[in-house]
Amino acid sequence: MLIRKTNDIQPLEITPSEITPKSVYLNRRAFMSGAAAAGTAALVGPRIASLLAPAASVHADTKLTTVPSPLSTTGEQLTSLQDITHYNNFYELGVDKGDPARNAGRMKTRPWTVSIEGQVKAKKTFDIDTLLKLRPLEDRIYRFRCVEAWSMVIPWVGYSLSEFIKECDPLPSAKYIQFLSLADPNQMPGLREANLDWPYSEGLRMDEAMHPLTLLTFGLYGETLPNQDGAPVRVVIPWKYGFKSAKSIVKVRFVDKQPHTTWNEMAPNEYGFYSNVNPDVDHPRWSQKTERRIGASIFKQRQPTLMFNGYGDQVAKLYTGMDLRKNF
Ligand code: MTE
Repeated sequence: MLIRKTNDIQPLEITPSEITPKSVYLNRRAFMSGAAAAGTAALVGPRIASLLAPAASVHADTKLTTVPSPLSTTGEQLTSLQDITHYNNFYELGVDKGDPARNAGRMKTRPWTVSIEGQVKAKKTFDIDTLLKLRPLEDRIYRFRCVEAWSMVIPWVGYSLSEFIKECDPLPSAKYIQFLSLADPNQMPGLREANLDWPYSEGLRMDEAMHPLTLLTFGLYGETLPNQDGAPVRVVIPWKYGFKSAKSIVKVRFVDKQPHTTWNEMAPNEYGFYSNVNPDVDHPRWSQKTERRIGASIFKQRQPTLMFNGYGDQVAKLYTGMDLRKNF
């Protein structure tokens, strides 16, 4: 993986809101040409940028049949579809927040398969339309907290990942699960822009993956996922920082050792494998005590961050006896 030296870093692009300094992950040419645009974007801000972006389209054939879920978070104002679909991190489609929406049309999500390999009784491949029908699709409202200290409240559609794992027949030796995303340079211009170790890889311990809150996600706001949000299938782990939630998954591997994961490999001192939301463990370059709720009224924009993103009652027991400062 190519990482530029720190003495190449220029002051313009080091902002606390960025997941890692752009100079670290951008290839030099893309970085130089993006610098001027980045300055403008910073002045304009995400709200105006999202208004300039094309409206999120809702196609007739994207409607999903869903049932309500008892696991939904209640009492929170939902983030608008416009913000959810125009303020994204999906580096394969570009590194700026508006790039995924701009480049989403280049991605093809049919045909699509998800292959299963590693510690399983037998390798399998699922067609996306089979996966969609495996279990009833639920509407699940979750708080979604990005490591960059912004958050949203998103009405996802999916079913618990545990239901899918049962269909995969993992062996007892499978201790972790790894998700690998699509990495096709013909559809994804960001692959050339960012010096990350593609394909995007994320992983969970098996008990985290089997937790009912961990969602295999096919849609949001009652419709299939827009490409920029990880179509046609992604995971969502609501008590972890957003980068754990891999998008556009094409491969699932069951493994006996902790798998390599993209951001942890890029900067292990900044992005831990666990990455549970924790207001008491700061990112080395910024505080995690508060978050900016995207699209909220000016009075509610800055909120305190909750331990495990507010899902501690359900998930804290997964980490009994673990030092969460060391295992951040
Ligand atoms: N998955 C892939 N394949 N590529 C990415 O760049 N970004 C991650 C995560 N999953 C990312 C990814 C990060 S940093 C975040 S915060 C969330 O996706 C953002 O999801 P959203 O754009 O739907 O809000």
